[in-house]
Amino acid sequence: MRLVLGMAGASGSIYAERFIKALSTIEGTTFFVCSPAALRVFREEMRCTVASSAELLDFVRTKYGLNSANHRFEIRNFSDIGADIASGSNTWKAMVVVPCSMKTIASINAGLTESLIDRAADVTLKERRPLILVPRETPYNRIHLKNMLELHDAGATILPASPGFYQLPKSLEDLGDFVSERIFRLLGAELDLYPRWNPTRLSED
Ligand SMILES: Cc1cc2nc3c(=O)[nH]c(=O)nc-3n(C[C@H](O)[C@H](O)[C@H](O)COP(=O)(O)O)c2cc1C
Repeated sequence: MRLVLGMAGASGSIYAERFIKALSTIEGTTFFVCSPAALRVFREEMRCTVASSAELLDFVRTKYGLNSANHRFEIRNFSDIGADIASGSNTWKAMVVVPCSMKTIASINAGLTESLIDRAADVTLKERRPLILVPRETPYNRIHLKNMLELHDAGATILPASPGFYQLPKSLEDLGDFVSERIFRLLGAELDLYPRWNPTRLSED
């Protein structure tokens, strides 16, 4: 799997963390771009001091004891609009932005391409590759809804950070895994990060 992974400054660092953890278990390469706001939110939510994308990845690797032999993470700078992933001449299977802020939703929809997340998303859409955006905001105003509808119509998939509760999550990590699995399913992979719905379960309980 060859992916672009953007992380924007919405609440929900656990979703990115669990997605990175799961990615580490499969073969492939991920081009990782993190916004300054994403780092700030990550620090707040994970009670840590990470100051760069590299430190964030190290934090996740250390927390879960990940062996990154399988999966290569290549860090790209948020402001480097001349990076390899700013051009459609480079290939990647899909791009995921998790979590995705309303600001990044708005700028991708407006085609502003000022940051590398925005530019890579713009390229992903123009090359007709899957773009999966995982927004987190509540409630939505009309601008949010309009931007998400327009992005949907432009070919993106809006996969809200709305974990289901029917698999009886016991932790934040379970919620993160639910959303991660939904992303992987759209990418054509099944990692079975949470138990499948079993309609006979209630009668067994
Ligand atoms: C602690 C914290 C939580 C935030 N949560 C959200 C959120 O859930 N959704 C959102 O759209 N923006 C949220 N924001 C605001 C964004 O971080 C802000 O709009 C920022 O400019 C987004 O920049 P980016 O899209 O380049 O990462 C939050 C900011 C902070 C500091």
